[in-house]
Amino acid sequence: MPEKNIQVLLAQRPMGMVKKNHFRIVHTPVPDIADGQFLVRNHYLSLDPYMRGRMSAAKSYAQSVEIGDVMVGGTVGEVAASKHPGFKTGDAVLGALGWQLYGVSDGGGIAKIEDDRIPLSAYLGVMGMPGVTAYVGLLDIGRPKAGETVVVSAASGAVGSVVGQIAKLKGCRAVGIAGGPDKCRHVREELGLDACVDYKADRLWEDLVHATPAGIDIYFDNVGGPIFDRVLNRMNPFGRIPVCGMISQYNTLKPYGVRNLRNVLIQRLKMQGFIVSDHAGRRTDALADIGRWLLEGRLKYRESITQGLENAPAAFIGLMTGKNFGKQLVKLI
Ligand SMILES: NC(=O)c1ccc[n+]([C@@H]2O[C@H](COP(=O)([O-])OP(=O)(O)OC[C@H]3O[C@@H](n4cnc5c(N)ncnc54)[C@H](OP(=O)(O)O)[C@@H]3O)[C@@H](O)[C@H]2O)c1
Repeated sequence: MPEKNIQVLLAQRPMGMVKKNHFRIVHTPVPDIADGQFLVRNHYLSLDPYMRGRMSAAKSYAQSVEIGDVMVGGTVGEVAASKHPGFKTGDAVLGALGWQLYGVSDGGGIAKIEDDRIPLSAYLGVMGMPGVTAYVGLLDIGRPKAGETVVVSAASGAVGSVVGQIAKLKGCRAVGIAGGPDKCRHVREELGLDACVDYKADRLWEDLVHATPAGIDIYFDNVGGPIFDRVLNRMNPFGRIPVCGMISQYNTLKPYGVRNLRNVLIQRLKMQGFIVSDHAGRRTDALADIGRWLLEGRLKYRESITQGLENAPAAFIGLMTGKNFGKQLVKLI
């Protein structure tokens, strides 16, 4: 096989904002396979905010990447060679083979993608981990009832876009919060949410009040920080807050001090952090519903596709600063 493997390694642990020099790109031979293994040529790499946590040595729910190791990441691709009885050349597969063109697997953690009605790339977004995150966070933790108001932050992103649309499918008033007029227009006009607040317009509180005339019953938090703090003041009694992510805090050396937590008490709110991997038992249900909604045209998604693995570090930094518009992917073919 003439092609070389390209890998992106963790070069240094970031303090504060992640930068390009925290990564190192290397060219290595395409790996050999042993009996019971197969070689995958990755077509798309998923870039996800959780990777910032894996670059750090701080205690978290998952193990850090070691310095010098290939960055972790979800991938979809095609089996290029196989000595494994269950996988043959040409099979489309979903796995977590990391930031590299080629990966070797013994089949652990790899799923075959046999339904070609949905594009391969979607299995890293709406039809994959972010979609399942939206589904379990909203339906199992938020428990929306028709007529309630659901607010979701990072509303044009991979998780948020699915949350807002499922809220609408369940008969709720759905309000997004997103950065900038283009993202807000997309959230309203393409995704069909009832309203979208542009938090970069410096009128967060006024616009939120206007968009939520009956207050907020569920706040699906993707960002933490000052947006979370303001939303707390708008929560209705017995509201629920699925805490999915805190992206505003991932790259800061000065964590934001929340001021409005007293609302948790006075409004009897239920706040619950969750990690999608703890809900593996719901994956089949989630993807059955999401797949059906996609095929029926009731769920839409948007992707930000960066070409070439060499550009993955810049795209990842962009994800941390809102340059992505929809699910951030890197195309490797
Ligand atoms: N709990 C879990 O199991 C789980 C699983 C997947 C993802 N997550 C979390 O879900 C969140 C969204 O992930 P995603 O993959 O869907 O990413 P995404 O929303 O597609 O992309 C990240 C978005 O975050 C927003 N953002 C960045 N910095 C911000 C800031 N300082 N304040 C407010 N918004 C900011 C940007 O949107 P704007 O331009 O609109 O600001 C950016 O586009 C992340 O916090 C992630 O860690 C959690």
